[in-house]
Amino acid sequence: MTTVTRRVAPTPDDSTALRFPQNFTWGTATAAYQIEGAATADGRTPSIWDTYSHTPGRVRNGDTGDVATDHYHRWREDVEIMADLGVSAYRFSLSWSRVQPTGRGPAVQKGLDFYRALTDALLEKGIEPVVTLYHWDLPQDLEDAGGWPERVTADRFADYATLAARALGDRVKTWTTLNEPWCSAFLGYGSGVHAPGRTDPVAALRAAHHLNLAHGKAVQALRAELPSYARASVTLNIHHVRALTEAAEDVDAARRIDALANRVFTGPQLRGQYPQDLLQDTAGLTDWSFVQDGDLADIHQPLDFLGVNYYTPTVVSAATDGASHGSDGHGASEHSPWPGADVAFHRPEGSTTAMGWAVDPSGLYDLLLRLKADFPAMPLMITENGAAFDDYVNPEGEVVDPERIAYLRGHLSAVHRAIRDGVDVRGYFLWSLLDNFEWGYGYSKRFGAVYVDYPTGRRIPKASARWYAGVARSGTLPG
Ligand code: NOJ
Repeated sequence: MTTVTRRVAPTPDDSTALRFPQNFTWGTATAAYQIEGAATADGRTPSIWDTYSHTPGRVRNGDTGDVATDHYHRWREDVEIMADLGVSAYRFSLSWSRVQPTGRGPAVQKGLDFYRALTDALLEKGIEPVVTLYHWDLPQDLEDAGGWPERVTADRFADYATLAARALGDRVKTWTTLNEPWCSAFLGYGSGVHAPGRTDPVAALRAAHHLNLAHGKAVQALRAELPSYARASVTLNIHHVRALTEAAEDVDAARRIDALANRVFTGPQLRGQYPQDLLQDTAGLTDWSFVQDGDLADIHQPLDFLGVNYYTPTVVSAATDGASHGSDGHGASEHSPWPGADVAFHRPEGSTTAMGWAVDPSGLYDLLLRLKADFPAMPLMITENGAAFDDYVNPEGEVVDPERIAYLRGHLSAVHRAIRDGVDVRGYFLWSLLDNFEWGYGYSKRFGAVYVDYPTGRRIPKASARWYAGVARSGTLPG
């Protein structure tokens, strides 16, 4: 595939407005466990996030996804909202446990019917469905059989991909295998701040490999089922890692984190090999003998684009006492999600979101330029970007969120600058359509363009939703 440099120019009528390429995709994104609710409806069985959120002390305020935004029942209204926003695409995930309870055997008709009806309604409104197969909610039965640290889970995932492609492949063209496998592996099995809450560094590395394998096998399954139809991708939360200083030990700390966060996935998936430095850095923990002959060829599949989720940069320095220090923004735990890395994390200066994450659009620009340098032929899609703030409904019944508008504006202008400088960015998905279940933080963090009043389920588009609708409809970022 060749990289096409598209012309992006200021609009003639407003010299500070930024026009995006004509076919740029404007979307919003969600994930099944974060919005659907209806946890026991129509044959759905528990996922690891049901189990985890029901375990006291795991999720803030004891929140669970049992009801969430009740999207399972209110999806028609949510499609209407998207049509009002004027977005051209909607990225959502399938709940594996809803489609194939227990992760084995035949599909459940009602689960498939739900996603069929949803995709039909989207297509009717001219909104392209972009389906993520896995956004962290492994069927609990598969975790009980060993979960991602075990190879068999990758085979189960390939079967599930086949079944999903058969059921939805006539209407869904764009598929994403995994969302942020770093979180599944290293927060799920390393620091334990995500489901299933295990804290074993070797299990985390094994999980990373089997997620890579699952990705490769699923891409093969999609292409086998939908030979001329499937656009296949993966979404990674590529960390934009910066060294605190130019000192050699800090630069090396950044290299180690880059290997554990990014190249552990991009290496096998996009280059067909694990980085040598990663294997050396982790040699004290494992010899990686769980990587079998043929795995790398299975993992290294051609992709139509790489999905990039970006929120904030990661700033690191060396820690001299052999431990990780400071918050890396992924939740507090006495266990590190960075196997074997002795590093310290630093919060950059400047304003932060309600997550405590620094607002830094230059990180997105730098990241996009780096990805172009590393993978020149790979089209990119921003599959998530957005911010949580402490939104509330004012006495007039409105939610006014200028900080979110400023955040989105800053990051969209970074994307525009990257496109102008030759990066092939195909689209942008705002995280998230709705306020939702923010994993370990429960409902305490609101990322939505649309406010959700949880007791009633009522949706109230925020000021940022109206602003984003203007951008999406015109393809132009106003000056
Ligand atoms: C990444 C995840 O994919 C999504 O599920 C999460 O809510 C956002 N980041 C915000 O943390």
